[in-house]
Amino acid sequence: MSDQVALATPGTEEAELLERMDRARLPRHVAVIMDGNGRWARQRRLPRVAGHRAGIESVREIVEISARLGLEVLTLYAFSVENWKRPKSEVRTLMRLLKEYIRIELNRLAGGNIRFTAIGRIDELAPSVRRELQHAMEMTERNSGMKLNVALNYSGRAELVDAFRRIQSMSEKRPVTVSEDLISDCLYTAGVPDPDLLIRTSGEMRLSNFLLWQVAYAEIHVTPTYWPDFRRKHLFEAILDYQKRERRYGGIRNGART
Ligand code: FPP
Repeated sequence: MSDQVALATPGTEEAELLERMDRARLPRHVAVIMDGNGRWARQRRLPRVAGHRAGIESVREIVEISARLGLEVLTLYAFSVENWKRPKSEVRTLMRLLKEYIRIELNRLAGGNIRFTAIGRIDELAPSVRRELQHAMEMTERNSGMKLNVALNYSGRAELVDAFRRIQSMSEKRPVTVSEDLISDCLYTAGVPDPDLLIRTSGEMRLSNFLLWQVAYAEIHVTPTYWPDFRRKHLFEAILDYQKRERRYGGIRNGART
C-alpha cells in the first residue's frame, strides 16, 4: 500500500489535497489553537462539555495524520492559564477528558513512535493529572518520531516570566549574556524548532497568549471550522495554504531589487 493511499482514500477530497501538497516542503512544526468547542455544542443544543468531548476525536485524527505525514512537531493548545476562570464543572471535565485521552491513546502514541510532552505550569495541575502526564512522557521519551506537545495551564507570558526567572537564577551563579538563543533555550519548547504554521479554528483572529515568542515568524492560517469538525482535510488545506506563502523573515522577495 503506497503512503499516499495510507494517508487518504483514493478519489476523496483528502486524496486530491494530498496530491497537491509538496511533501518535501512540509512545515516542521505546526501549532494549533483548538477553538470553537463551545459554539459547536451550542449549535447542536448540547452542553459545552459535549463540544470538548467531540474535540477529542479531532485530536486523535490530527495527531495520527500529522505523525504519518512526517511533521516533526505538533503543539496543541489544550488549556490556558485563563481557562481556570471557566465553571468548575467544565474544568473538571476537561481534565478528565485529558486523562482519558492519554489512557486510551498512550499505546497508540508509543507504537506510532510519537513523543508526548506536556508544556505549561504543569506543577500547578492536580496530582492525578500530573501522574498521567508523567507516565505518558516516560513511556514515550525514547520515541524519535513526531513530538506532540500539549499545552496545559499554559500562557505565553507566564512562559516568558518563567524563562526570565531561570535566566535570573543562572546569572546569580555565573555571568550570563542574554540573547535570543538563551531565551529560546529557557522556554518550555527548548530544543524544538519554532512553529512554521499556526492554525486557529473557529474564525477568531487572536493569538490568545499562545507561544508568543515562538510564533514571531509563523504563518497563520485561520479557518472558520470549529475544532470538533476539524479533520485531516482541514489540516491538508492549512498546509497547502502555508505552502503558497512566501516567507521573507523581514527581508525582501527573492530576486526583487526595486
Ligand atoms: C476551546 O473551545 C477549547 C478548549 C478550551 C479546550 C480544548 C480541549 C480539547 C479539545 C480536549 C482535551 C485536549 C487534549 C489534547 C486531549 P472553547 O470552549 O473556547 O469554544 P468556544 O469559544 O466556542 O466557547
